[in-house]
Amino acid sequence: MKRVLLTLALAAGMASAQAQKFEGLALTPQMGWNSWNKFACDIDEELVRETADALVETGLAAAGYVYINLDDCWHAAERDADGFIQCDADRFPSGIAALADYVHERGLKLGIYSDAGRHTCGGRLGSFGHEYQDALQYARWGVDYLKYDWCETENINARGAYTLMRDALYAAGRPILFSMCEWGDNKPWEWAADVAHSWRTTGDIWCSFDEVLEHGTWRAWSVMHILDMTAGLRRYAGPGHWNDPDMLEVGNGLTHNEDRAHFTMWCMLSAPLILGNDIRTVDPKTLSILLNGRVIAIDQDPLGVQGYRFMREGDLEVWLKPLAGGHWAFCLLNRGKEDITYTIDWPRFDWTDEEVSKLSTDFSTMTYEIENLWVEGKKSAEGTTKKAKTVTVPSHDVVLYRLAPKR
Ligand code: GLA
Repeated sequence: MKRVLLTLALAAGMASAQAQKFEGLALTPQMGWNSWNKFACDIDEELVRETADALVETGLAAAGYVYINLDDCWHAAERDADGFIQCDADRFPSGIAALADYVHERGLKLGIYSDAGRHTCGGRLGSFGHEYQDALQYARWGVDYLKYDWCETENINARGAYTLMRDALYAAGRPILFSMCEWGDNKPWEWAADVAHSWRTTGDIWCSFDEVLEHGTWRAWSVMHILDMTAGLRRYAGPGHWNDPDMLEVGNGLTHNEDRAHFTMWCMLSAPLILGNDIRTVDPKTLSILLNGRVIAIDQDPLGVQGYRFMREGDLEVWLKPLAGGHWAFCLLNRGKEDITYTIDWPRFDWTDEEVSKLSTDFSTMTYEIENLWVEGKKSAEGTTKKAKTVTVPSHDVVLYRLAPKR
């Protein structure tokens, strides 16, 4: 008996020593689509299939948006007789495994959603007490991504709950990207780098440039509020573990300028780029933002260093982001209601990123070529940093440059 107990204890010890998150996922911030921002609980398999097709047809899949993520409300009301989670058979009559096949056949990946508490935020069944069973079910279905929410978790320890699900996913054996959605309540950036591939930094976004939406017991945050709450967390982000300022609202009702600013700032933050609009009806103007590969490359830069707010003067901000190959992203953001004309005196932006990359800009002794990333074709080459540059940044908009050292 003693020996059996010892063996069990050793096995348990080994299992926990080995448990880890799946490495090699999200080496650059994950990209894809999620149902919540646009559809909330009104989802079914047809929507997911049509969205998968649309992602391919629009070129978004080829641009890198490969995860197609079910959010809340895909669940049946009850677990099966053995306690396994099931999908809502009215809305997903073919089942999740068939949906995963459909998505995989198109070169995409499938994401799913659960919650560390007894119920999800939408009142569906959570994973509490069923973590290993749920992870196993997702792996069997062929799921590639789990967003794990934080409703109904009073008295639950966040680090414990998320580590438990991480271990359950690992034990199930299928590499599943683990996206924490705990709203930043327990400062996950301080402890979650080896627990998850990303963690939400704030409560939910809503489709507003700079206004808070009061819900009574909670608030939904605007693009600018979330930007401010995430700006100071850059030292915690890096390949495989990202700050997640929530899903994109691009295409959901902001102005075109605001959409561009929102998208750009998420790229400057090295944020996961998870689309939240209806891809089946996306208009060309929205697509022109989402498909700008040169801007996406700022987000997906292999260095994986989150951008830095260097200057804030009135409504104007200047952000810098170190990129591979000695390049820099240089972004001017106008938060105000009036257009701003500003003269960039380059040496003022000589800076060493002591906090993260240790890289330096050097405008005093070096010259950089300026590429305007929101301008198409030949016109995007806007000279060099040899002399000061005057630029107009429209209201609620950005100007984004890639600076490359001149040879
Ligand atoms: C929470 C999350 C959202 C979304 C909803 C679903 O509010 O933060 O992103 O998943 O739950 O109910």
